[in-house]
Amino acid sequence: MDILIKGTIVPVTGPEDVIRDGVVAVRDGEIVYVGRLDGLNDFSADKIFGGAETAVLPGLVNAHTHAAMTLFRSYADDLPLMKWLEEAIWPLENRLKAADVYWGTLLACVEMLLGGTTTFADMYFFMNEVAAAVQESGMRASLSRGLIGYGPNAGEALAESREFILEWHGKAGGRVSCMLGPHAPYTCPPEYLKKVAETAAELGVGVHIHVAETRQETAEIRKQHGCSPVELLAGCGLLDVQVLAAHCVHVSPGDIEILAKKGTAVAHNPESNMKLASGIAPVTDLLGAGVTVGLGTDGAASNNNLDMLEEMRSAALLQKVAREDSMALPAYTALEMATIGGARALGLGQVIGTIETGKRADLVLVDLRKPHFYPPHDVVAHIVYAARAGDVHTVLVDGKVVVDAGQVLTVNVETVLDNVRESARGLVGKPKERSLL
Ligand code: NI
Repeated sequence: MDILIKGTIVPVTGPEDVIRDGVVAVRDGEIVYVGRLDGLNDFSADKIFGGAETAVLPGLVNAHTHAAMTLFRSYADDLPLMKWLEEAIWPLENRLKAADVYWGTLLACVEMLLGGTTTFADMYFFMNEVAAAVQESGMRASLSRGLIGYGPNAGEALAESREFILEWHGKAGGRVSCMLGPHAPYTCPPEYLKKVAETAAELGVGVHIHVAETRQETAEIRKQHGCSPVELLAGCGLLDVQVLAAHCVHVSPGDIEILAKKGTAVAHNPESNMKLASGIAPVTDLLGAGVTVGLGTDGAASNNNLDMLEEMRSAALLQKVAREDSMALPAYTALEMATIGGARALGLGQVIGTIETGKRADLVLVDLRKPHFYPPHDVVAHIVYAARAGDVHTVLVDGKVVVDAGQVLTVNVETVLDNVRESARGLVGKPKERSLL
């Protein structure tokens, strides 16, 4: 299948690299040409998408989420992280069944695809169902089973992770990859983290973990271990494998140096951090030190949507206000974080994240013929500061059209919504006062 995409191409290979009236040619899922139409030879398209007022972007990468937590969206809001987790989320998660996770994940996939997200890094449980939902939706994902290192099931969970990785890593036509998912330094003891690092090295996969999300966590680790969470992970040898560290809100300049030296990637989640009042990650400092930073929504329960276009805007605005510096995180940097930054953070930097020949065709077409995009002075500024999920028109993953004219083609959305409502009813017991379940 040969597909031709027309529009203003934003390849995210450099801030000035925008091709007006350009084309992207896709053959068998691979990008084979990017440039002006007159430079394209020997290509007869089976299908053509886009047009004069279309922006073409690399697929967005949601570098940290818990997809099935869509089930808890609006169930418990306006609480601090630990109270939210211990009193609202964890009790519900204890009641989750495999089918709930399947439908919750499929809902997340549909929502993400409609907003231009083509890849996500997920940490949850019932991962076979998560992988099945990813496969069905046509998305790309890096999946990790969440591991709690304390308690009687810790060893079994690690064994299950190994089985999951052996079964799914590289599957779904290469769209699914896997990582190990120790939840956090405060839920996994150092001995356990060492085992995780050894297993990751043995299986040749990365590690996805929450790090230094709250001030309380950092203080607790210091009290127990006499060091910071980042130092603790480095001491366990965990940072010697490829690590995707979600949050890194409360990190010191010394921690940042360690992250940079070890090549640890960070997933920044500005809206979740704001909503749970966790603090502001020092993104400008992390980037300045050479750390790879991707962008994530975290779970829908703490966001409350999975809109990566909105997340870019939040990331840029939050750094600006935190540093009282309007140049602290420019639009183009936010776009890089949401595309190639996230791709690198997931170990997929050679495969996706930019529009370049040889890469897989994960592409997003945004319709610019809208009042909030007029006049079109700057396409990158428009995407970061003015666009929202509903502006996405067409989405390709691995060269396959999965969204067209704002409609998901791979999954019946009505069926997903009905099943999610049933799951949510079953989970909550007595509905809240404002519930519409
Ligand atoms: Ni998280």
